[in-house]
Amino acid sequence: MRRVSGVAVAALAASVNAASLADVCTVSNVQAALPANGTLLGINLIPSVSTASVVYNATAGGGMGSASTTSTETFNYCNVTVTYTHPGKGDTVVVKYAFPSPSDFKNRFYVEGGGGFSLSSDATGGIEYGAVGGATSAGYDAFDYSYDEVVLYGNGSINWDATYMFGYQALGEMTRLGKAITNDFYGLSSDTKIYTYYEGCSDGGREGMSQVQRWGDEYDGVIAGAPAFRFAQQQVLHVFSSAVEHTLDYLPPPCELDKIVNATIAACDPLDGRTDGVISRTDLCKLNFNLSSIIGESYYCAAENSTSLGFGFSKRDVERGNLSKRQAAEGSTTSYQPAQNGTVSAEGVAVAQAIYDGIFNSKGERAYLSWQIGSELSDADPTWNSNTSAWELNIPSTGGEYVTKFVQLLDLDNLSNLDNVTYDTLVSWMETGMVRYLDSLQTTVPDLTTFQSSGGKLLHYHGESDPSIPAASSVHYWQSVRSIMYPHLSEEESLQALEDWYQFYLVPGAAHCGTNTLQPGPYPQNNMEIMIDWVENGVKPSRLNATVSSGTYAGETQMLCQWPTRPLWHGNSSSFDCVNDQKSIESWTYTFPAFKVPVY
Ligand SMILES: *[C@@H]1O[C@H](CO)[C@@H](O)[C@H](O)[C@H]1NC(C)=O
Ligand SMILES: *[C@@H]1O[C@H](CO)[C@@H](O)[C@H](O)[C@H]1NC(C)=O
Ligand SMILES: *[C@@H]1O[C@H](CO)[C@@H](O)[C@H](O)[C@H]1NC(C)=O
Ligand SMILES: *[C@@H]1O[C@H](CO)[C@@H](O)[C@H](O)[C@H]1NC(C)=O
Ligand SMILES: *[C@@H]1O[C@H](CO)[C@@H](O)[C@H](O)[C@H]1NC(C)=O
Ligand SMILES: *[C@@H]1O[C@H](CO)[C@@H](O)[C@H](O)[C@H]1NC(C)=O
Ligand SMILES: *[C@@H]1O[C@H](CO)[C@@H](O)[C@H](O)[C@H]1NC(C)=O
Ligand SMILES: *[C@@H]1O[C@H](CO)[C@@H](O)[C@H](O)[C@H]1NC(C)=O
Ligand SMILES: *[C@@H]1O[C@H](CO)[C@@H](O)[C@H](O)[C@H]1NC(C)=O
Ligand SMILES: *[C@@H]1O[C@H](CO)[C@@H](O)[C@H](O)[C@H]1NC(C)=O
Ligand SMILES: *[C@@H]1O[C@H](CO)[C@@H](O)[C@H](O)[C@H]1NC(C)=O
Ligand SMILES: *[C@@H]1O[C@H](CO)[C@@H](O)[C@H](O)[C@H]1NC(C)=O
Repeated sequence: MRRVSGVAVAALAASVNAASLADVCTVSNVQAALPANGTLLGINLIPSVSTASVVYNATAGGGMGSASTTSTETFNYCNVTVTYTHPGKGDTVVVKYAFPSPSDFKNRFYVEGGGGFSLSSDATGGIEYGAVGGATSAGYDAFDYSYDEVVLYGNGSINWDATYMFGYQALGEMTRLGKAITNDFYGLSSDTKIYTYYEGCSDGGREGMSQVQRWGDEYDGVIAGAPAFRFAQQQVLHVFSSAVEHTLDYLPPPCELDKIVNATIAACDPLDGRTDGVISRTDLCKLNFNLSSIIGESYYCAAENSTSLGFGFSKRDVERGNLSKRQAAEGSTTSYQPAQNGTVSAEGVAVAQAIYDGIFNSKGERAYLSWQIGSELSDADPTWNSNTSAWELNIPSTGGEYVTKFVQLLDLDNLSNLDNVTYDTLVSWMETGMVRYLDSLQTTVPDLTTFQSSGGKLLHYHGESDPSIPAASSVHYWQSVRSIMYPHLSEEESLQALEDWYQFYLVPGAAHCGTNTLQPGPYPQNNMEIMIDWVENGVKPSRLNATVSSGTYAGETQMLCQWPTRPLWHGNSSSFDCVNDQKSIESWTYTFPAFKVPVY
């Protein structure tokens, strides 16, 4: 506003609501809105290469992690790209923004998370909320490359710029810059409040947590699902299932693993008070069910050509989610499985039990937590070799690539085998990764004072039967924030203080960032509406609205219990209470003595 001619400014400001998209969507309006060098410390804009053009009849983004239903409505927006450099560095960061029509703009800014090793490349996710949105190249051409493709310049040589940009910096800069441009773009005074939201799941959840931890005063409302944080432990965990099989020297056929999971669901479903196909209380399952009782049950699976998804994405992510071409290719490998007919073995149960127990070093000290019992054991599926007609160890590349590239610093896409790899080896990989990337990828800073004191609201959720990122990983972070921020308050006082701005919900039966084909449970559908109401109207939620989309109870609304309370159904009826259960909470509570530094 300051840099446009007075007459133009007055005209634009006076008629902002009457202005059409074409009126404001001009390169000169964008250039005039760019903050002068020195205004935003560390961000020098290069105005001459800005672009602006109207995109007509676009279809809704609603990409990864946003729980909103995909809309078929079309909309128009102003497609803007701006370019900046970090002073003295000579790098180039391209950011694209999507500005809604002036008549649709509701003083909001919206950032959408990515997934896997990718930041979101779609800037239009906020349009349906009347929000400006953004997406960034992060200085490493992130629209075309995922971060794991650029993390190494060569063997032994880490690209730290890309690491910090992917870790948290690129999104923070994009948001700070985008908000600064937004006011001037629409001719608003510079102190007009722009409500700023973030929404994402999986790595998008981690990215959200990175913003809460590092750019806390930029955001008013952050929705973070199943965050892939505690990055080192989380990525190495993807090697754990195969390490268990390697150590116990037994490769369960996938059908045997499926049977163990199915039988566990059948046995534990009623423990929460209602038999509906969903383990709403995996804690009660963990405390009361013995996997050994499945030994001897028969299983059968017909031969099939199956499609397996890489990166721990659910099918829904791939369908809805605008993954890069590379991810999509990786995400759909076809493999053949022969018919499998047998009975659940003691060895198979031992493998499942060890996986659900989590990882310990050889001194018996716990190093990490694991997936909740009843979650699919997807990382454990061996591969069928048609040449030898035998099952082979399958090391998921999600974990294997992390070890080769981020820990061993070798430009290889996966580990080739687990020869000589013990649980101690896994713990040392976790330790190396945690220390090396403690301030970039780990994303577990537990002091959120900046976010909290500037009025930020955090809605954190996690599918209780997530087979990729354990639900307990989220519980542990919530516990860390609570104990670090409120060390002197009583249990009750700290709970009340926390829920004013940080609420955490487990989603019964849900898988990774989506519903679970094995457990037809509820899933939250309108998180953004809830968050907007909380931020802009002060309506604080106390339960989370979720809807069942399949099975006997399809269409049922469940108001999910806020952690640490847990659901307990009234004898197969349609209502449940949110109860306090100390034993249950303890079953979700972990310490990690295998590491000498605190693991938040
Ligand atoms: C801001 O700095 C960048 C490089 O650091 C330069 O290219 C650009 O022209 C500067 N902008 C202005 C308006 O001087
Ligand atoms: C957008 O869609 C509307 C309604 O279908 C149509 O009338 C209009 O011509 C389209 N605009 C462009 C630029 O394609
Ligand atoms: C937005 O603008 C950029 C830069 O001109 C262009 O490369 C891109 O294709 C545009 N996007 C759409 C959806 O038109
Ligand atoms: C497990 O349950 C699913 C869903 O009901 C079913 O499709 C699958 O065939 C079952 N697998 C086994 C091995 O029982
Ligand atoms: C589960 O059952 C097996 C076999 O009956 C028994 O050996 C084992 O101790 C039981 N485990 C627990 C935790 O009770
Ligand atoms: C799997 O695919 C192969 C090759 O396309 C085909 O010959 C075979 O019949 C398929 N098997 C099943 C069980 O679909
Ligand atoms: C995202 O996916 C939708 C639906 O498949 C598609 O129309 C849209 O062009 C995609 N957007 C990007 C940025 O790839
Ligand atoms: C599985 O094996 C059992 C025992 O050998 C046999 O009775 C049964 O018919 C087999 N089931 C199928 C579907 O092949
Ligand atoms: C099976 O043998 C073929 C031909 O020798 C080879 O190309 C292929 O890689 C082998 N597959 C596996 C899984 O070893
Ligand atoms: C990097 O190391 C791997 C594993 O030792 C090796 O296969 C590869 O050739 C090396 N790459 C380069 C460019 O030296
Ligand atoms: C595993 O350890 C044995 C004995 O120490 C050694 O001979 C072998 O080379 C090792 N294998 C690998 C792949 O490191
Ligand atoms: C819950 O979400 C559904 C689906 O988005 C919506 O129709 C319903 O109004 C919401 N209920 C409440 C109480 O927020």
